[in-house]
Amino acid sequence: MNQNGCDIGLLGLGVMGRNFVLNMADHGFSVGVFNRTKEKTRKFMEEEVGDRQIQAGYTLAEFVSLLKSPRAVLISVPAGDPVDQVIDEIVPALSSGDLIVDMGNSHFSDTDRRDHSLTEKGLLYMGMGISGGEAGARNGPSLMPGGSKEGYERIRPIMEAASAQIDGTPCAAYLGPRSAGHYVKMVHNGIEYGLMQMIAETYDLMKRGMAYDAPKLHRVYQKWSEGDLNGYLMEITAEIFRQKDDLTGEPLVDVILDRARQKGTGEWTSLEALEHQVPLPGIHMAVTARDMSDYKKERTLAAKRFYGAPGPPLGEEFVDRLEGALYAGMVVCYAQGMALLDQVGRKYDYGLDLRTVAAIWRGGCIIRARLLENIREAYGAEPHLANLLLDSRLGDAVEAKTGDLREVVCAAARSGIPAPGLMAALSYFDAYRSERLPANLIMAQRDYFGAHRYERIDKDGTYHTAWTEREVKK
Ligand code: 6PG
Repeated sequence: MNQNGCDIGLLGLGVMGRNFVLNMADHGFSVGVFNRTKEKTRKFMEEEVGDRQIQAGYTLAEFVSLLKSPRAVLISVPAGDPVDQVIDEIVPALSSGDLIVDMGNSHFSDTDRRDHSLTEKGLLYMGMGISGGEAGARNGPSLMPGGSKEGYERIRPIMEAASAQIDGTPCAAYLGPRSAGHYVKMVHNGIEYGLMQMIAETYDLMKRGMAYDAPKLHRVYQKWSEGDLNGYLMEITAEIFRQKDDLTGEPLVDVILDRARQKGTGEWTSLEALEHQVPLPGIHMAVTARDMSDYKKERTLAAKRFYGAPGPPLGEEFVDRLEGALYAGMVVCYAQGMALLDQVGRKYDYGLDLRTVAAIWRGGCIIRARLLENIREAYGAEPHLANLLLDSRLGDAVEAKTGDLREVVCAAARSGIPAPGLMAALSYFDAYRSERLPANLIMAQRDYFGAHRYERIDKDGTYHTAWTEREVKK
């Protein structure tokens, strides 16, 4: 143990916390730990710590006394009230200049509030997104730190060592002030929702539309994960189709109930996009699809009532179409998330560098994918790129696959298999590349019923037309 105390402290020995402590310790840092339930701490110390430099505090005062000054305390507890409770409890034991880092999936507005009040108290505060689940926390997550820059400099060597590494570069980088880190993590999760939904749709099309069984599905996703679609979600999808259920011997995926749960970060991303009027249909659709899945009882009734549209059978070559469609859909999904970060990030003065965001998402996190290297390069060439679709390479790649996307969307519609994520991706692309949209008619309608006025294509100003005789007479 360092003579002056532990390099860093971590409070909350849940799955993420425990694994991150071991990860930091394995990189040679001494860590002080605390958990509200003493038994959990004892068990962790006895069963997992071994000869690593980890010390436990069984009271908050003891925990704080273990840490080198100025202190750095990571908090790994569920988002929401528990974070406030822990902060309220620990703050009296800390001194001015000490650092608190919230590693949970906190809503960014909570992070802003905490940042404000703790900074006023003379403490340093950070909100740091962490992605990669249990394995990531243990072996190298993607870390998205925001808040006090001075605070980050203090813990930077530890975070850089503990994070995933891509080509020798840590997947951890300071993103910006206040809630910048948690905002980026929220959008990461929104993209995660969008990608998962579209992958699930390709599964549905192959299972229901082509009667593919689990071994066949495994082979398809395995092949895809070796090509342009390479990424963590594709890899685990391939693996999932290999898992057998212990109880029935059936493929496990077939016995899992089709009701998708959610903790809320996808919905937060959607709400943010709506609030700031950034088009984000892929992520809205992904949230809505999870909501729809929850209506299991009603869906079961409706399934008996409506027949759908059994389209022509889908041939083997359709799998290649799906691959292309998914690729185009994925680029469009990242494009939407990045556009939200770009536009709202500027409103919130985060000073986000989207190249850095793409770089730290290349490893460790759930949405890591080969595509992120292209995205990083796109922002490297043009830091203020308005939309990823405007990058020549990514734009060309999407354009080359839109034929597949159209084919898949048509096939889904003809077969009566819902594909809201892929359909939204195509609509987004088509709307984005349409110089003229039918919004002129909407403006005419608004002016007709509410005198809301419209702009003209040929001169400045706003106009109102007396659309009805009654109005003319007034
Ligand atoms: C990650 C995950 C992680 C968590 C999600 C699940 O980046 O490691 O996103 O944060 O698994 O919160 O989110 P839902 O419960 O909303 O699907």
